[in-house]
Amino acid sequence: MSTTAFSRNLLDRLLKADEVVAFTGAGVSAESGVPTFRGTDGIWSKFKPEELASMEAFMRNPALVWEWYAHRRAIIGDVRPNAGHEALARMEPLFSRFTVVTQNIDNLHRRAGSRRVHELHGNIERSYCMTCLKQAPGLDLPERGSIPRCACGGVIRPDVVWFGEMLPEEEWEASMAAAGRADVFFSIGTSAVVYPAASLPYAAKRSGAYLVEINPEPTPLTPTSDEYLQGPSGSILPELCELLVSSRGGKR
Ligand code: OAD
Repeated sequence: MSTTAFSRNLLDRLLKADEVVAFTGAGVSAESGVPTFRGTDGIWSKFKPEELASMEAFMRNPALVWEWYAHRRAIIGDVRPNAGHEALARMEPLFSRFTVVTQNIDNLHRRAGSRRVHELHGNIERSYCMTCLKQAPGLDLPERGSIPRCACGGVIRPDVVWFGEMLPEEEWEASMAAAGRADVFFSIGTSAVVYPAASLPYAAKRSGAYLVEINPEPTPLTPTSDEYLQGPSGSILPELCELLVSSRGGKR
């Protein structure tokens, strides 16, 4: 039974929409058991980003940075996509184009079945060589205290975006383009404070998208949103998806 009151306006806009974007952050994975970054129990309340998630940190102590990523990879490997990820995957075929733009590196959108996914901050399951730039698929995680090396002799690093680094160009361009075309743009489970990713909802709104935020807590984006759906994405998204499917009466 649905507990969220969705507006008629949102439903009408979704029923008419050709293109929808779901911009997601750590909050969508919270109900899977993946810690978020900010907030009282967040990752950045226990660790300093500059000591673990920057090139300087990696150059200073690559084994420590690898140990931290191996730990997070183990957490992520043990969890499953939740009802929110699954609802987004079910929504994809309901529209001409439905794009997930995620700041998450946990791969849970793809594991839930979403196909059109742009990963702005990389993917913790991938790694690449810093010398020859080749991906290192199927890399065994290093033993504690050691660093994985490529056949070329170069040092392998996690394929994630660290502080001070550029976003992957293709993913960013594609995400900006999708934001510019979106009829409805959802910002889900993100504190919306890390740029340039956080500029996407504003860009979408400037281009005419209806901006909807889903989050248990208000964020700096809330006053700009056309609708704020307050609550966990693992409940709200399945309810919205169900409403959409039943309102379409099986169309598409
Ligand atoms: P944050 O930890 O900053 O924010 C998580 C958001 O999720 C907060 O606004 C919470 O209120 C919300 N939230 C918590 N539980 C939720 C739930 N069940 N359903 C929906 N929302 C929930 O994470 P991000 O915004 O993703 O960057 O952080 C952005 C970037 O900062 C990350 O990609 C990472 C980090 O530093 C890099 O590592 C480059």
